[in-house]
Amino acid sequence: MDKILIRGGKPLKGAVQVRGAKNSTLPLMAAALLGEQPCVLHNVPCLHDVFTMDKLLAEMGMTNEFTGRSMTLDATTVDSQVAPYDLVRKMRASFFVLGPLLGRYGKARVSLPGGCAIGTRPVDIHLKGLEALGARIAIEDGYVIAEGPLAGADIALDFPSVGATENLMMAASRASGVTRLSNAAREPEIADLAQFLNAMGAQISGAGTDLITIVGVDALGGAEHVVIPDRIEAGTFLVAGVATRGDVTVLNANAEHLASVLAKLRAAGAEIEVMGSRIRASAPDGIKAIDVTTQVHPGFPTDLQAQTMAMLCVADGASILKETVFENRFMQVAELVRMGADIELDGNSAVVRGVPALKGAPVMASDLRASAALVIAGLTAEKGETAISRVYHIDRGYERIEERLASLGAEIQRVRE
Ligand code: UD1
Repeated sequence: MDKILIRGGKPLKGAVQVRGAKNSTLPLMAAALLGEQPCVLHNVPCLHDVFTMDKLLAEMGMTNEFTGRSMTLDATTVDSQVAPYDLVRKMRASFFVLGPLLGRYGKARVSLPGGCAIGTRPVDIHLKGLEALGARIAIEDGYVIAEGPLAGADIALDFPSVGATENLMMAASRASGVTRLSNAAREPEIADLAQFLNAMGAQISGAGTDLITIVGVDALGGAEHVVIPDRIEAGTFLVAGVATRGDVTVLNANAEHLASVLAKLRAAGAEIEVMGSRIRASAPDGIKAIDVTTQVHPGFPTDLQAQTMAMLCVADGASILKETVFENRFMQVAELVRMGADIELDGNSAVVRGVPALKGAPVMASDLRASAALVIAGLTAEKGETAISRVYHIDRGYERIEERLASLGAEIQRVRE
């Protein structure tokens, strides 16, 4: 198993290219199941989660080709509607195949998901929505067994779940009649998926707002699509730049998707400059304590909470971080404390009292974003070495993070144990 070793205390400086969004790519790949001609995605990130989705789709008979950052997905060879436990347990996003399978083939057998260990993460909203579309659903031996046909319906989501909104949009694209999803998720990845589905021939309007209307169609064809930039990856590099009192520019980013994050970085004393698709962040005067509450989009993203906490560990004053989207998403806290952070947890809130500096220590990654937080903490640590184990978590969502941070001047390397 690989480890990441970091000697911190150096400000990050320079520019780094942001890759395509993981959280767009995964549902886009699943959506290709709906295509009666091949689909092509560009700006696809080389990530473990993308490879897992590729394997899952290949297992169903899909013919995929991944060259450079482009992927061709041909669902005309699909001959199985089963998503096995072995693959689904590795990644919760595998559950995205349920909606398109049901929409296109009228049947699906999909294992209940695994994924990051951040809370119980049920799929009740997905299933309730599909049932409202007329699906018959049974749970047998850990599998969801679903059958169509589907008919359009008015569905009010209990919570604006990103995954449920995506699954329902894909299923409803092939339902007969009109579906209206209210209290829908508004994340940029939803609008990206709708754009791709529309290019395939779907009729979706309102994606990006809380009311999405889907007029079912008889068939979807192929389409070519460029994946949007990964706002969480961009945010991670910017937060790392500010945390190390450096000066980092992310290239090929979308500042509109990061409005709440940039506002919080400014409140923490960072200087932020947006020049088209470039965002520059520096913190010449240090970091001030801020309060952050995670919210669904356009609020502060839960996927940047842990990284922001690592930055606030070395801010001037006490910050309060409140997590409202997931339970159990403070897995980084115990490890940050091992590095000298002063953090007090109380339910879904954390009080972070800034200390002058963190110290390097051996730490363990527990989930994707928590591991990014440990990397940032290691980069700020002024003494000692940080050795992060279980880095497979970080490879799920960041492409060769050590090489890209090294290009910004970090002393970081990956070693094989
Ligand atoms: C997606 C993202 C993830 C991000 C999250 C919130 C992908 C691949 N992953 O995850 O990185 O952190 O959005 O922005 O896009 N819930 C239920 N029942 C359900 C579905 C969800 O109770 O049926 C709850 C979850 O347990 C969680 C909350 O709703 O507490 C948000 O989950 P959701 O928006 O569905 O997140 P994901 O789609 O799993």
